[in-house]
Amino acid sequence: MSSNSSLWTPDSWKKKTLNQIPKYDDAVELSEVESTLASYPPLVFAGEARDLKARLADVSMGKAFLLQGGDCAESFNDFNALTIRDNFRILLQMAVILTFGGKKPIVKVGRTAGQFAKPRSSENETREGVTLPSYRGDIINGYGFDVASRRPDPSRMVRAYVQSASTLNLLRALAQGGYADLNQVHKWNLDFISKSTQSSQYTELANKLDEALSFMSAIGISTSNSPQIKETEFYTSHEALLLYYEQALTRRDSTTARLHDGYEGDWYDCSAHMLWIGERTRQLDGAHVEFLRGVKNPIGLKCGPSMTPDDLMKLVDKLNPDNEAGRLTLITRMGHEAVESKLTPMVRKIKKEGRNVVWCSDPMHGNTITTANGFKTRPFHSVLAEVKNFFEVHHAEGTHAGGVHFELTGKNVEECIGGDQDITAEMLAAGAYETLCDPRLNATQALELAFKIKF
Ligand code: PEP
Ligand code: CO
Repeated sequence: MSSNSSLWTPDSWKKKTLNQIPKYDDAVELSEVESTLASYPPLVFAGEARDLKARLADVSMGKAFLLQGGDCAESFNDFNALTIRDNFRILLQMAVILTFGGKKPIVKVGRTAGQFAKPRSSENETREGVTLPSYRGDIINGYGFDVASRRPDPSRMVRAYVQSASTLNLLRALAQGGYADLNQVHKWNLDFISKSTQSSQYTELANKLDEALSFMSAIGISTSNSPQIKETEFYTSHEALLLYYEQALTRRDSTTARLHDGYEGDWYDCSAHMLWIGERTRQLDGAHVEFLRGVKNPIGLKCGPSMTPDDLMKLVDKLNPDNEAGRLTLITRMGHEAVESKLTPMVRKIKKEGRNVVWCSDPMHGNTITTANGFKTRPFHSVLAEVKNFFEVHHAEGTHAGGVHFELTGKNVEECIGGDQDITAEMLAAGAYETLCDPRLNATQALELAFKIKF
């Protein structure tokens, strides 16, 4: 173990600068919730996080491709089987399209089962002369604009844990119980996109897949003897923002304990397989970097346009001192116009220093605009341009464009403008704008993007 980690403990982050972490007004209530969560079972196992790390190591070497996506924020109100299934299904559809396009295995990671806490640019929100704390996601406070809702309430962490456990339970069933069987690929196509170009493209692809499966079955490779056809691997991830929650779910992996020297095992944050550090909490000496450097999960780091190659190297040294492949995914979110100028020097630096990383493009968070009629949106063409520019930089530098990270939903919402559906700013006001947080790609836009990604 490197000396860097020697002083780490699950609560060493508490001595650092805490950004974006709410101040709870009742310390007793907070510590009761921490103890409750610490006594509950882990949501994921260390071995699963290690499996994901191995898959991501393949991604870092260009042998696989990462598809990460889901809601900007999960919510307590929109919690039901259909939402979970639809988000899972759209990722499966995208994965099939990307497998055909790129001829590589797709590593599927949802923004789900724990993606509740949101960083905010302002501490407070003012409406008609009234100022209250900003909404920070359902795990922290409520969306309603009143004093009681906006108070950070520790008991929300327990509710988020229960919702995450239940979400994960359904996702495991969907991934392994037959729903994800490749023989079902036609059935994943959603009714409301049946009239779109994407739907016919998808049906064409599903027909090809059927033919391939019939051929394989004829030579003896089928659902009955090949789990790869019947089941899929699906991993979970979220931003590790609310460190009280993350710490309470951090456990020692007994399988890595050693009898001979009394080492009790590696620490894993068992709230999700993969955790990432957000753009607003990536300070080198801040609490979030401190916490995540000590857990062994695969982790992500958001990299925005204000980060310099030197900033990045310092963070890489701290977060992945042993240069382990699969440990660190750099999720770049530059804005479509800045990709070439900002990403190129970073990629060069990482390549020159011989660091093993996964490069992943988040084309959402650098491309948010507000329309004249007051809606926060993202133009489809900017999202697509960021992904294209990301691929171009990696082609030019001879590095691997490892993956993509989207905010999307399997639902038929209208939150991002443009695409083949030609969603306009006026249409955002018509009622299908549902997000409490950032605008998401709808199912049709998500498929369109998957078809347009060229490896
Ligand atoms: C997010 O992924 O929801 C997010 C807030 O991103 P970023 O930290 O990159 O702004
Ligand atoms: Co977001």
